[in-house]
Amino acid sequence: MKPLLPLHRRSHLSSYFLTLSFVTFATILYFQDFTCLLRHPSSTPPLNLNLKEKDDYAMDLPFTIVKGNTSCDIFAGQWVYDEVARPFYAEEECPYIQPQLTCQTHGRPDTGYQHWRWQPNACSLPSFNATLMWEMLRGKRLMYVGDSLNRGQFVSMVCLLHRVLPEDAKSWETFNGDSLTVFTAKEYNASIEFYWAPFLVESNSDNAVIHRVTDRIVRAGSINKHAKHWKGVDILVFNTYLWWMTGTKMKIMRGSFESETKDIKEMETEDAYRLALGRLVMWLEKNVDPNKTRVFFATMSPSHTRSEDWGGEAGGNCYNQTTPINNPVYWGPSTSKSMMQVLKEVFSASRVPVTLLNITQLSEYRKDAHTQIYKKQWNPLTPEQLANPRSYADCNHWCLPGLQDTWNEVLYTKLFFP
Ligand SMILES: *[C@@H]1O[C@H](CO)[C@@H](O)[C@H](O)[C@H]1NC(C)=O
Ligand SMILES: *[C@@H]1O[C@H](CO)[C@@H](O)[C@H](O)[C@H]1NC(C)=O
Ligand SMILES: *[C@@H]1O[C@H](CO)[C@@H](O)[C@H](O)[C@H]1NC(C)=O
Ligand SMILES: *[C@@H]1O[C@H](CO)[C@@H](O)[C@H](O)[C@H]1NC(C)=O
Ligand SMILES: *[C@@H]1O[C@H](CO)[C@@H](O)[C@H](O)[C@H]1NC(C)=O
Ligand SMILES: *[C@@H]1O[C@H](CO)[C@@H](O)[C@H](O)[C@H]1NC(C)=O
Repeated sequence: MKPLLPLHRRSHLSSYFLTLSFVTFATILYFQDFTCLLRHPSSTPPLNLNLKEKDDYAMDLPFTIVKGNTSCDIFAGQWVYDEVARPFYAEEECPYIQPQLTCQTHGRPDTGYQHWRWQPNACSLPSFNATLMWEMLRGKRLMYVGDSLNRGQFVSMVCLLHRVLPEDAKSWETFNGDSLTVFTAKEYNASIEFYWAPFLVESNSDNAVIHRVTDRIVRAGSINKHAKHWKGVDILVFNTYLWWMTGTKMKIMRGSFESETKDIKEMETEDAYRLALGRLVMWLEKNVDPNKTRVFFATMSPSHTRSEDWGGEAGGNCYNQTTPINNPVYWGPSTSKSMMQVLKEVFSASRVPVTLLNITQLSEYRKDAHTQIYKKQWNPLTPEQLANPRSYADCNHWCLPGLQDTWNEVLYTKLFFP
């Protein structure tokens, strides 16, 4: 690598070359020097220079500190037990975890699930630096939009970041009938937010408190009612999947929920999913400046509801599981490859770059990381349930600290070192 040029010498240098009339030659040198500078690790934000190399696309993404090794797939790897470096925080140190995810408080006997570190095959994840994250978020908003799994990832991020802030310099508030939760770091004028929209587009499950609707109906073409809350956000992290998986078909509605004549038709789930995600991409293309905003989409979060799937005893589920699955090609039936294909197609066609957080495979292994029965139960349990705990185990959501801290480590990696 050539020695780095000090920034202030930039114009001086280029005029020097220009006076020598080696215009073309000089331009090449100049660009080479800058590419070199841009690739050098540094803790300052990327320079806003108007240069673009064909293979340097990631450099144009806002928030980039240094371009990562694009030939390393950070989503391919394995879990390594790490008693020392994991977890990042203790459950009782984070008052923001909702009682549905505080497994130790609710009697989980084992803690092994907190000690696994994700190790990609071809490289290592950069270490998570909370102060650096706040510095990069100064004056900015990071928002998670989606369902309760995305809410878990949001809370994990708050847990990872709140500890470096003094007690009186942070706040937690909810708005808009609890659809919007905002964690603010006052000194940094920065916020981390969560917006409830389980289908991203409008649906009859949009009420953040009462949303357990059995007959789900989606308005795949309507997004503005939600999207007005995301407009202007600097970093967006979307997810949506589980709510679509009620059968092979999905009910799609034209017009509004208020209108008298309702035009509802059933569609293959993949087609409905494609419509809704396509609507999201349309919104992004119209409303997001890719030079200022980063957009992420977290792929499906797997469930572990049948132990036969991973070669366990018949009749079991995630309950009582204390170790990850060892089979490197394990892929359970809860995660649909055809839905994954839809994600790939829709987002690769987007003119606004959408970075996929492909957390599916790494989460597939984690049959041990679910909340199981160790969470607040909203309804009293029946004697039959109490006699058979696996009958009411939650094999969808994840304990915190735990797996979702890793989802944020990969978000951190893709944000600053794409
Ligand atoms: C983003 O920046 C590039 C130059 O770096 C510019 O050519 C492009 O027009 C900008 N895009 C938008 C949407 O402003
Ligand atoms: C980038 O990753 C590839 C493997 O994916 C590896 O062979 C190579 O050494 C890495 N390069 C750097 C600079 O880390
Ligand atoms: C974390 O980032 C901050 C701000 O950039 C920096 O001052 C500090 O040295 C970093 N900490 C570590 C352990 O790298
Ligand atoms: C705080 O951040 C918001 C964006 O989230 C920005 O509009 C506002 O100007 C900032 N205020 C200050 C005082 O920097
Ligand atoms: C939980 O697993 C242990 C062994 O790992 C087994 O001895 C015990 O019977 C299991 N409990 C239930 C309720 O399945
Ligand atoms: C995510 O990773 C899995 C396997 O690791 C792969 O099969 C799938 O195609 C990836 N999804 C996307 C959208 O790239």
